[in-house]
Amino acid sequence: MSSRFHIAKASFIISAPDLARCPDMQNRPEVAVVGRSNVGKSSFINALVRHNGLAKTSQTPGKTRLLNYFDVQGKLGEKPAGMVLVDLPGYGYARVSKTEQAQWRREMERFLKEREPLKLVLLLVDSRHGPQENDCQMAEWLQFFGLPILVIMTKVDKLSKNVIQKQRQLTAKGLDVMPEKVIPFSAVTKQGLDDVWRALIERDLVVTT
Ligand code: GTP
Ligand code: MG
Repeated sequence: MSSRFHIAKASFIISAPDLARCPDMQNRPEVAVVGRSNVGKSSFINALVRHNGLAKTSQTPGKTRLLNYFDVQGKLGEKPAGMVLVDLPGYGYARVSKTEQAQWRREMERFLKEREPLKLVLLLVDSRHGPQENDCQMAEWLQFFGLPILVIMTKVDKLSKNVIQKQRQLTAKGLDVMPEKVIPFSAVTKQGLDDVWRALIERDLVVTT
């Protein structure tokens, strides 16, 4: 059984406008967070690293426009360890022009396909709505390029236990992943927090530094 990760510090590194300007993180494994605009990506990151206000959240969709790098440091058992998180711009925000959306999409796809240290993509889906067409496209695309994914069902504090289980099955089916790869999560109640960390540690994404 893997040890627990005790977070000591989470810090913002840089907002990279594109792949070429991503920081040198000494080849430590990186975990990217993707999903529709307003699904709760930034809130997820803040809850995960227990640092409110680290990733900028907002009620205005389309807030995150860059590849935002975060460094999480702490201890795995007795050993100093850490992980790198990357908050990506949300897709599917209607009020952004088609041209601009296409441009972001190209940038994001280039990053996902070519960023060497990227080892896992966390695909966030709103638990109330289930996967939308662009979520299915994203999941299919990631699987096509052989990128491992885990699905995070966000905002489950808005649903009853029964509905959460139903939505979990539907989400797994809709995205063509195993139900075990879908983790119900709430940034408000912190439900699912331990499950996400366990999954990250099991996949060796928290590495000794
Ligand atoms: P963009 O960066 O614009 O793509 O959005 P985002 O995916 O980063 O979403 P963000 O974290 O900014 O959250 C969007 C809205 O959803 C905010 O009003 C949050 O307070 C709310 N929200 C996020 N997570 C949760 C959650 O677990 N439960 C509830 N009830 N609300 C949430
Ligand atoms: Mg955001």
